[in-house]
Amino acid sequence: MDKLLIEGGVRLSGETAISGAKNAALPILCAALLTREPVTFTNVPQLNDIGTLLKLLAQMGVKVSRGSGSDAGTVTLDASALDNPVAPYEMVKTMRASILVLGPLVARCGEAKVSLPGGCAIGARPVDQHIKGLQAMGAQVTVEHGYVHAVVPRLKGARLFTDMVTVTGTENLMMAACLADGETVIENAAREPEVVDLANCLVAMGARISGAGTDVIRIRGVEQLSGTTHRIMPDRIETGTYLCAAAASGGEIRLTRTSTAYLDSVIDKLMDAGCEVISERDAIRLKAPARLTSVSIRTSPYPAFPTDMQAQFMAINAVANGTAIIRETIFENRFMHAVELQRLGADIRIDGNMAVVQGVSQLQGATVMATDLRASASLVIAGLVAEGETVIERIYHLDRGYERLEEKLAALGARVRRLA
Ligand code: EPZ
Repeated sequence: MDKLLIEGGVRLSGETAISGAKNAALPILCAALLTREPVTFTNVPQLNDIGTLLKLLAQMGVKVSRGSGSDAGTVTLDASALDNPVAPYEMVKTMRASILVLGPLVARCGEAKVSLPGGCAIGARPVDQHIKGLQAMGAQVTVEHGYVHAVVPRLKGARLFTDMVTVTGTENLMMAACLADGETVIENAAREPEVVDLANCLVAMGARISGAGTDVIRIRGVEQLSGTTHRIMPDRIETGTYLCAAAASGGEIRLTRTSTAYLDSVIDKLMDAGCEVISERDAIRLKAPARLTSVSIRTSPYPAFPTDMQAQFMAINAVANGTAIIRETIFENRFMHAVELQRLGADIRIDGNMAVVQGVSQLQGATVMATDLRASASLVIAGLVAEGETVIERIYHLDRGYERLEEKLAALGARVRRLA
């Protein structure tokens, strides 16, 4: 199992490019199931999660073609021969977001059999809202032997209200509604930018959607959708992760092919911590102070502070001046990075969904273990600023969501290498 060896103590400097957003690409690739025509996507990040999804789509009968070399970020999907609306457990268990094929398959084929994703390290991750919405649109849904089985000749437009804000729940139901008979209204919809990117792609395919980015999305069903070419938006969480790495190391970096758009809550907190953040048209520059000031955060749905940046902010607070309170309100078990950060010398006390982080002047390198995608990112940040060497084990978690991580960190001056 690969490990990452980081030699700490380097102030990051230089420039690197941000990739396409994993959490936009995953639902958007599934949207190709909704049409018989080929759909081309550009700026698709080369990540393990993307590879897993493309394998899943291929076993359903979708023709997958990928560019190579400088065109590696281009993917064309042709679902004209889609003949197997099944997502088996063996493939879904490695990537929960596979649940995003459920809505498109029911809408296109009138049937879908999708393995329940099951939980993951950060929580139980139920999909009851996805199921409730499809049932409200007329699907007969049974959950048996670990599979969601949905059947309906044609979905009917309905008024849907999710019990909580759910990103993939909103995305699944929005995709399903595109081919339904009549109008669907999703209330309490997720407002994340990735939902908007998906809506923009669907509209380019001929869908009739309004309100994406607000908490009420209206979709008027059409008979069929057509192909299009869509560029995946930049990854705001990857962007925020590198900004945190530079902030914690006292460095000065420039990130290209991205912007501060959709990161207001994160940028605000980095500025409160003492960073200077300069926004350019297609880039961001950050200049960190010698030592950060502690900043408290509370995760909430967009546009508030994103849960996917919580672990990274625990890491930067671990070496900041002062005490920070971190509240995690989205997932029930998203503090597993805390015990690993404590191995590096961090002073963190967990009390339910609250973490109290007392900044220390110096972390000490050690061997630590990644437990989930964003937790691993927080360990990388801590390793970059710890004294001596840090070895991070089980970094397959990182490979799921950060494209060419060592290469990008090395471009910023970090001393990092992968150990087989
Ligand atoms: C998406 O997960 C993201 N993944 C997550 O990113 C992100 O952390 C999360 O949204 C919150 O922003 C993708 O987009 C692929 P939710 P999702 O449904 O959609 C509960 C990363 O690191 N809930 O918004 O699965 C749920 O348990 C990943 O890139 C139900 O109870 O999250 C959670 O407590 C991690 N029933 C809350 O709602 C449901 O049917 C929000 O979950 C659905 C959700």
